[in-house]
Amino acid sequence: MAASLEIPSRCVIWFGQPPAAERGALAAAGWQLRCVSPAPAMAIGLRGRDHLVAVVDLRHLDAEAAQLLLPWIEKHHHLPWLAVLPAGLGSPPPAWGALLRACQDQFSLPLELPDLLSAMQRQCDGDDVPLAATHNGGGLPALIGNSAPLLAVRAALHKFAPVELPVLVTGETGTGKELAAQALHALSGRAGKPFLAVNCGAIPANLVQSELFGHERGAFTGASQRRIGLFEAAHGGTVFLDEVGDLPADAQTSLLRVLQEGTLERVGSNQPLRVDVRVLAATHVELEQAVAHGRFRRDLYYRLNVLRLPMPSLRERGADVLLLAEHFLRAFRQRHAGRARGFDPGAHQAMRGFDWPGNVRELLNRVQRAAIVAEGELISAADLDLVEPDAPARRALLQDARGQVERDVLLQALRQHGYNVSACARHMQISRVTVYRLCRKHHLELPAQR
Ligand SMILES: Nc1ncnc2c1ncn2[C@@H]1O[C@H](COP(=O)(O)OP(=O)(O)O)[C@@H](O)[C@H]1O
Ligand SMILES: [Mg+2]
Repeated sequence: MAASLEIPSRCVIWFGQPPAAERGALAAAGWQLRCVSPAPAMAIGLRGRDHLVAVVDLRHLDAEAAQLLLPWIEKHHHLPWLAVLPAGLGSPPPAWGALLRACQDQFSLPLELPDLLSAMQRQCDGDDVPLAATHNGGGLPALIGNSAPLLAVRAALHKFAPVELPVLVTGETGTGKELAAQALHALSGRAGKPFLAVNCGAIPANLVQSELFGHERGAFTGASQRRIGLFEAAHGGTVFLDEVGDLPADAQTSLLRVLQEGTLERVGSNQPLRVDVRVLAATHVELEQAVAHGRFRRDLYYRLNVLRLPMPSLRERGADVLLLAEHFLRAFRQRHAGRARGFDPGAHQAMRGFDWPGNVRELLNRVQRAAIVAEGELISAADLDLVEPDAPARRALLQDARGQVERDVLLQALRQHGYNVSACARHMQISRVTVYRLCRKHHLELPAQR
């Protein structure tokens, strides 16, 4: 499975005591083990960031202990529950009936240990992972990929998460900025407290103040009730301001005050209120330009930009595109019936060669669509809609301009358009994928392929 961020915090709560060999196998598969012996009124601290699986080991629990577990299972029904039975057991004793019904599946250990491990693993794959406390930001999201740029992101996440400072997440659309913000929250001491995200550009400018900071009854026409804003609602937790560059001027001032003094005023009140929130912000544009043009407060920019987390584009991430595609297909298959269960070599090649202007989000959409339209078991480049259009101009170009001619044409076009691939592609009436491919073929270096 792809290296992913959640590995250090995958945790299995094991009711009972697995023998050493099983402990070893669990550790080798990346599971942290917490052994618990059932007791009346037991309370187990669950951290919101953990991917949790609960295992009831009926090899060692007596019937009484098993009964103690039932209320606990009910209380934590959002967890995946699996049962372990002794190998060679005929039919389970009736006393276990209620318990076994509460578990999703059962395994006879040690014989079925590999099956148990893969069942646990399945619970941690895909988007529909049951997590502890999904209401507080979804737990630690899986960040798929192990390319060098993504390893750098993961390292930065771990470094920045515990620091109580704002983080400015930058990057093109669909690169996972929001996912990174969720991970920062889930890895921080604020995990378990609210994570509230808002897209600053999506709220009408005249409502931003009230959305973020709340309003008093009668503060403006239509304010018939007092309303708590996002920052107050997130008290103790994290606010994620997406597209922070779109924040109107008055809201910028209020945000600066939250960052500097830790206080806010609801619209229509001059009573300062203390709030304890960590602010994470994202932008897909260069905020520096907005500052230079006077659209964004310089002092606010400095406050937000203490820690900076640039998200790499998908085309910089090499083979990650294939890991992600497989991850998305697997997640899709868990929810929908479909024939497609993999990708053919042409699809692999097309995905590696494509430019991915919409980054991971575009990949997700294409994979889901392909999983629906694919006729066979393997998704093709055509299913992904990555087959280049067979434009006559392109055919003519490729047929006529062979070898040196082709190279000259390409080089001339690149130079003419300042090595802008999109412009060059338009000019040559070929796709950008083809431009990249031809550049590779003719060993033409594109300055910073972005
Ligand atoms: N490394 C990754 N692993 C798994 N899914 C990812 C990854 N990066 C992005 N995604 C998914 O891609 C989609 C877009 O990510 P998002 O965080 O909304 O991007 P942005 O905020 O930069 O536009 C989401 O569905 C997200 O879950
Ligand atoms: Mg986003």
